Amino acid sequence: MSDKRLPPALAGAVAERVRPEQLGAAAARLSAGYRANLPSRAAVPDAAGAAAYAASRMPATYAAVTAVFDRLVAARPDFAPSSILDLGAGPGTASWAAAALWPELASLTMVEASADFRALAVDLAQAGAAVLRDADVRQGDIARPASLPEGPFDLGIVAYALTELDLAAAEALVAWLVGRAGRVVIVEPGTPRDHDRLMVVRQAALTAGARILAPCPHAGACPLPSGDWCHTSVRVERSRAHMRLKGGTVPFEDERYAYLVLETGAGAESESGGRILRPPRVSKHEIAFSLCHADGPTREARVPSRDRRAFKTASKLDWGDFLPDGG
Ligand SMILES: C[S@@+](CC[C@H](N)C(=O)[O-])C[C@H]1O[C@@H](n2cnc3c(N)ncnc32)[C@H](O)[C@@H]1O
Repeated sequence: MSDKRLPPALAGAVAERVRPEQLGAAAARLSAGYRANLPSRAAVPDAAGAAAYAASRMPATYAAVTAVFDRLVAARPDFAPSSILDLGAGPGTASWAAAALWPELASLTMVEASADFRALAVDLAQAGAAVLRDADVRQGDIARPASLPEGPFDLGIVAYALTELDLAAAEALVAWLVGRAGRVVIVEPGTPRDHDRLMVVRQAALTAGARILAPCPHAGACPLPSGDWCHTSVRVERSRAHMRLKGGTVPFEDERYAYLVLETGAGAESESGGRILRPPRVSKHEIAFSLCHADGPTREARVPSRDRRAFKTASKLDWGDFLPDGG
């Protein structure tokens, strides 16, 4: 499991450039805008808004992206990307998370519409590793894939950005990315709306020839009934300043996210088993899991405490983890 906290160099760079106590209004506008499903160009209209995003949202989106990278690594432990394309990069969140996880990374290309976000991404990157300092941070419209860098890339990332596109544009972008990146990571807010949209995008990726590494253990239709949605959660520590900025009363927040990890080209067979759909239910007698299973339908799995070895293994598993058959 990777560290989900902002690297100290990034946290320090954000704290130096952004004084949370001066950001109240921009942070409130940003939260209200995102809650109302406004795109960043409306919720983050200026440099103060971009700074507010770095101070208030970046710790959570960094944690979610890192958690999804962990899923990719769990499925493909030898994967070590050399080139990454980060689409809708904002202040460079996913690029920082990738640089922390894969020291072999040699080239980063960030595409971002907003000049304020691009300026902040370039500025923050000066506190990072050479690959971040040398990153190609460029203006571009991810709703027009024909205008994007051609690649190929080892990894393509779209974090919290598909949600801002028309659904047809999101489908087209992911189909385009599947043709140019060996692996693709998509992270979205963990809401019913974004789950529904992600299932449409998932189909576009499958049609374009991708395989799903996570979370789905199969390529069939999503078995969840209407009204239910596949998502998971990562806990993010909050500093005092962050608590003040977000008006929180506890020193953490739980970031709910939905995601897809895709693979293109030839790849190894995936392990058979099920994805844990909800927090496991633990009692003295057993651990019960709701699973989305490789065979298609969702199902319950119970591990009795009398089966000590299996119970010990199962007690380490959490919401969003993969439970192999017989595991
Ligand atoms: C919610 S932010 C996410 C930023 C970053 N990826 C993260 O996870 O923290 C969404 C980003 O997508 C960018 N974006 C939205 N639509 C875009 C478009 N059509 N072309 C390029 N960037 C876009 C926004 O400007 C914003 O920076």
